[in-house]
Amino acid sequence: MLRGKKILLGITGGIAAYKTTFLTRLLIKAGAQVKIVLTESAAAFVSPLTLSTLSQNPVLMDFVKEDDDSISWNNHVDLGLWADLMVIAPATANTLSKMANGTCDNLLLAVYLSAKCPVYFAPAMDLDMYRHPSTTESFEKLQSFGNVMIPAESGELASGLSGLGRLAEPENIVKILEYNLLKKSPLHGKKVLITAGPTHEALDPVRFLGNRATGTMGFELAKTAANLGAEVTLVSGPSQLSATHPNINRIDVTSAQDMYEACHAHFETSDIMIAAAAVADYRPKNVSEQKMKKKEGDLTLVLERNPDILKSLGEIKKKQFLVGFALETENELENAKGKLQRKNLDAIVLNTLNDKGAGFGGNTNKITFIDKNSTIKTFALKTKPEVASDIWSEILLRIDG
Ligand code: C5P
Repeated sequence: MLRGKKILLGITGGIAAYKTTFLTRLLIKAGAQVKIVLTESAAAFVSPLTLSTLSQNPVLMDFVKEDDDSISWNNHVDLGLWADLMVIAPATANTLSKMANGTCDNLLLAVYLSAKCPVYFAPAMDLDMYRHPSTTESFEKLQSFGNVMIPAESGELASGLSGLGRLAEPENIVKILEYNLLKKSPLHGKKVLITAGPTHEALDPVRFLGNRATGTMGFELAKTAANLGAEVTLVSGPSQLSATHPNINRIDVTSAQDMYEACHAHFETSDIMIAAAAVADYRPKNVSEQKMKKKEGDLTLVLERNPDILKSLGEIKKKQFLVGFALETENELENAKGKLQRKNLDAIVLNTLNDKGAGFGGNTNKITFIDKNSTIKTFALKTKPEVASDIWSEILLRIDG
């Protein structure tokens, strides 16, 4: 969720500054870019070299940067504009009071005053300082400016006393940042159901009928939805792919019938459903309990129809926005539109095997998005993550906030 986010970490001079090494590590692990600004007293508690190594960026302290043969300016305005969010941790009583009053006597405070992004502050101090009326006043004033407070936690303090004033644990700071970013995400609070991959239809205990789908498109759609804040249920047929995002609940199934049951168990509570799986239309009518023996002559398999999962969901849908896929080889647009109507869909994503690089297997796809009003949008050949993002952009335009 913090992937690609530009985070400015401001560190002030309290003993809890040592915890910012862990915080920096967690932010980097979560995929964020981190730049750090220290106050002079923070540098007494935590080594700038450690922080610059962990953040993979130079650590800044002064307005001017003096190298052996040059002097340059650490531009606080550029830094303030660079960031997607700023977090000041630990925030001492001194810095909080200066922030609340607009004092600007070090680089960190100048950056704070220049920042246009959301600012979070995580106070850490001794319990009596924490509950002093002037500190409380700083908290209130800063929150009235729109800054977000990450309250201190209770426990043993460096002074030897025990109580409220410990810096929030780095893991909790990261969770709060993620939670707040998610709340502003377009799919926050939405439940999304996605099918992906092939299905395997058993012939006997060791053999099955299957297809070449890998699940890539469905998994990319799930990842994008999760990154946009949705709670995703990914019903996947047999696939080598992994989905580790914490917002994705993966349900592994084998056959079309299993997929049908898993989808029906989750459809009612879903807001959006995308059927990206390549579901087998037929299954062997009789599944042999024992491994089938080879015999002289031909073998005839009798197949029976599988349920059409998407169509069955179209029949019971209420509020759900329902999206299907159509892989066509002829009369593409007409066939896709017909499918959209027959299955009672809100939109259908057409990919044709006639387009080079589209459809199964590879990591690219070329799609046409058609909605129920017959609005048609054709996209260029793109990578599947890009296609997933295009599909979600189209869906977002058509659902209620
Ligand atoms: O009718 P056709 O199989 O071409 O429709 C493709 C769409 O229907 C895809 O979205 C696919 O995931 C879905 N489908 C399904 N259950 C089936 C067959 C297809 O959900 N048995």
